[in-house]
Amino acid sequence: MIIMGIETSCDETAVSIIGSDGIAADLIWTQSVHQAFGGVVPELASRAHIEKVVACTQKALQEAGLERPDGVAATAGPGLIGAVLVGFCFGKSLSIGWGVPFVGVNHLEGHLLSPLLDSPRPEFPFLSLVVSGGHTTLYLAEGVGSYRVLGQTVDDAAGEAYDKVARMMGLGYPGGPLIDALAQDGDPQAISFPRPRPPKPGRARIFERYPLDMSFSGLKTAVRNYLQKTQGWNPSDVAASFQAAVVDVLMDRVHKAVRETGVQSVAIGGGVAANSGLRRALQDSPYTVFIPPKRRCTDNAAMIANVGRLRMLNGQRDSLDMAVRANWPVGV
Ligand code: KG4
Ligand code: ZN
Repeated sequence: MIIMGIETSCDETAVSIIGSDGIAADLIWTQSVHQAFGGVVPELASRAHIEKVVACTQKALQEAGLERPDGVAATAGPGLIGAVLVGFCFGKSLSIGWGVPFVGVNHLEGHLLSPLLDSPRPEFPFLSLVVSGGHTTLYLAEGVGSYRVLGQTVDDAAGEAYDKVARMMGLGYPGGPLIDALAQDGDPQAISFPRPRPPKPGRARIFERYPLDMSFSGLKTAVRNYLQKTQGWNPSDVAASFQAAVVDVLMDRVHKAVRETGVQSVAIGGGVAANSGLRRALQDSPYTVFIPPKRRCTDNAAMIANVGRLRMLNGQRDSLDMAVRANWPVGV
């Protein structure tokens, strides 16, 4: 079964085609129009998707040497709703025109299962840490469509913290790769930034829901205070020390999740999974780790085609009445 995936939930216009032999086409067009604004401008994102989605689709078909796939999957949320609508409506119309089934895919489920796209693939159950610009959640993946939320951020997502700290430091957007690059020349122990942990029972709790929850907004504020108070701060040291704190928090929750579940297979996905510090820390851990290539960590359509294909192989289809969703949590 050969499936086309379409992803337009943020600032990447992406189209991919995958079949039983793997990825036949994987196009990702990153919009540059947002750079001048220091963040994604939703209306500009929607317009840029409209301009590019047809050309990306034609190129993907050409690369795959295909006239039409056996099914179309498109991101149905969560994301910038106007941007999601572009790829979602286009995907539906392709499915009508070609007379093939349609599946609307949750973008987070795309990141969660993206480690299945490359070998070696994890077997269920595995832990999947999804760390992106909008979400930071640690899941226990028990099967396709069966996910348990073990912990998640109670405020900022890790990628959001990267982007905000980059802005405070006067770097560009997106901040993650820029801080990651700066951190290579810095001392991760130069500045001792906080690593928020769940408080002891009985004390005032912000971490109400899960003991594996995380928080990044205090860390972001600590960086802001440091920058305001410190004359001539060293950008590489700030980047390296901030990155060390983020990675420590994420790895701490991974260790706890392994202890709690007994599951030793750990996968990561989402833009922050491209981070060199996190990839190294996971690689050095005693677990069996599944770290997708960087191209499959940041937004892409192969992960959408993957989920669509797995669901269609299970006989699932979505009705063309399906609507998009700006917020759409995954798992219970
Ligand atoms: O998954 P993604 O491409 O889009 C969302 O679904 O949000 O993630 C984007 C986020 C941005 O916040 C970006 O700064 C971050 O991923 N990011 C990184 C790195 N590459 C991208 N963060 C840290 N280190 C990186 N190398
Ligand atoms: Zn994403």
